[in-house]
Amino acid sequence: MSPVYKPKIIAFLCNWCSYAGADKAGGQKLAYAASVKLIRVMCSGRIDPQFIFNAFRKGADGVMVLGCHPGDCHYRNGNMKTMKRMLLIKKILDQFGIHPDRLKLDWVAASESDKFQKVVNDMAEKITKLGPLILKGYVKEGIKA
Ligand code: FES
Repeated sequence: MSPVYKPKIIAFLCNWCSYAGADKAGGQKLAYAASVKLIRVMCSGRIDPQFIFNAFRKGADGVMVLGCHPGDCHYRNGNMKTMKRMLLIKKILDQFGIHPDRLKLDWVAASESDKFQKVVNDMAEKITKLGPLILKGYVKEGIKA
């Protein structure tokens, strides 16, 4: 019997909305994919594209960026800058042979614990279908599962 594939997913969450939503999901004991590792940042706008490339380089099969809904960013328009950046990052990933669906941007408010659970589980399902990320000619540094 082969072991069940559990995708390694890194999720960057903004402190004020998405991380609070994740925290609420935890408080409500809402189950979500255990292979998703959460990294809290102050704002989705703080996520340097290098964070995303490094996550893939170090072994992530998928990366998520979750921020406040448009108009709700606590730093005015950090999430809007991120939205524009993500389009460019997806194009770059595609050029490296990384399927753009391996990167996801979504908005999760502090009250949306159920949405947090859904977007994380949907992403885990999508990445499971895509399978492990294999970067040709490149040895991943590895992320502990
Ligand atoms: S503070 Fe949440 S996206 Fe900017």
